[in-house]
Amino acid sequence: MYHVTELDVPATMTDDPARVAAFREWVAVQNAAEVSVTGLPEILWTPEEQLPYLLDPEAPSRLVAVHSSDGTVVAAGVYDTKQAPGTPNCWIWLGVAPDHRRRGVGTLLADHLEALARADGRTQWKTSAMSRQVGPASGPGYRPAPTGFGAVPEDEAAVRFLTARGWRFGQVNRISRLALPADPSVVRELHARAETAAGPGYRVHTWTGRTPEQWLDGIALLETRMSTDAPEGDMEEPEDVWTADRLREHEALLERSPRTAVTVAVEHVESTTLAGFTQLAVPDNVDQPVMQGDTLVLREHRGHRLGWLLKVVGIERVEQDHRGHPSIITFNAEENRPMLDVNEAVGFVGVGSEGVWERRIATPAG
Ligand SMILES: CC(C)(COP(=O)(O)OP(=O)(O)OC[C@H]1O[C@@H](n2cnc3c(N)ncnc32)[C@H](O)[C@@H]1OP(=O)(O)O)[C@@H](O)C(=O)NCCC(=O)NCCS
Repeated sequence: MYHVTELDVPATMTDDPARVAAFREWVAVQNAAEVSVTGLPEILWTPEEQLPYLLDPEAPSRLVAVHSSDGTVVAAGVYDTKQAPGTPNCWIWLGVAPDHRRRGVGTLLADHLEALARADGRTQWKTSAMSRQVGPASGPGYRPAPTGFGAVPEDEAAVRFLTARGWRFGQVNRISRLALPADPSVVRELHARAETAAGPGYRVHTWTGRTPEQWLDGIALLETRMSTDAPEGDMEEPEDVWTADRLREHEALLERSPRTAVTVAVEHVESTTLAGFTQLAVPDNVDQPVMQGDTLVLREHRGHRLGWLLKVVGIERVEQDHRGHPSIITFNAEENRPMLDVNEAVGFVGVGSEGVWERRIATPAG
């Protein structure tokens, strides 16, 4: 009655119409599955926005669909991993159209995706599951994160489904939203305080689009440290090494998406190296939110309010150069108090959360 196929991912959105149509249908099911849990259409990504990420040659995504007997797509799945030899981990995600749940479709798709991971020799699998939970919670009816920060309702389908399949709950990410325009007096005051705390030893740089030549190595290091210096919950994230070449290639790919990348970086003046950065993806469509992605201050430069400085300069930059977007959306680990402190101070509010789950298998054949 149901059958699984793997998509031929289009190279561009003007590729062969049948390939593009299949990809659009896949994204529609993916988005319907997510929004049925979160009720947040604002945070969904369009096919055009997703495609460049899926085509990353270092980590090409495999997209899988489940069809009903009449050919309709009823579930969407992704298998992601880096191509570098020896990579132990992979990411899996799946979603089932709301009116096809509890019929074994999720099981069929998860079996398929997990088989891809086994065949590929991956022993450390991760997935994320959106939750309706807003803000911290505890007590009966909640599954607490092993980090001690955040919880998700026990009765959520993904919690039941993943637990039954032997996955382990590892972390909660908070989804936060800042309505734009932000309160200008708050932003101004926080900017002044952060600048004073950072002192003359640090200097802020901002740019749009590709990383300037001078900062390529610095951004590559910050991207690498995102995999080791950001909170990883009760899980292990292997180092994901970025080089200037990989960064260039990645940025060339992202230029094909209908978004502008805004980067704010802070330089440690004495060593002329970068101490931290934040990146914002600004959609061409002014009705869509700005997505704030990677934000990091290197461990050795923490304690100077650089996170605050990056955050407020990012907001100012978006408001000056890209007016009219409804909001900025960002995801942070619920245990990442320093980052949540900054967000709460500038006016971000929690609108949902995401559980991160892990499954380890002893050997590729285990
Ligand atoms: C989680 C999800 C993928 C499950 O898909 P599904 O097709 O309904 O799953 P199945 O029918 O194969 O269910 C398998 C088992 O999971 C458990 N389960 C799934 N949904 C459940 C629910 N709502 N309540 C209780 N148990 C549930 C049950 O044990 C079920 O077996 P049973 O029906 O024999 O009791 C689906 O609810 C979904 O798409 N959710 C939104 C997207 C998401 O959270 N994805 C993240 C998962 S990686």
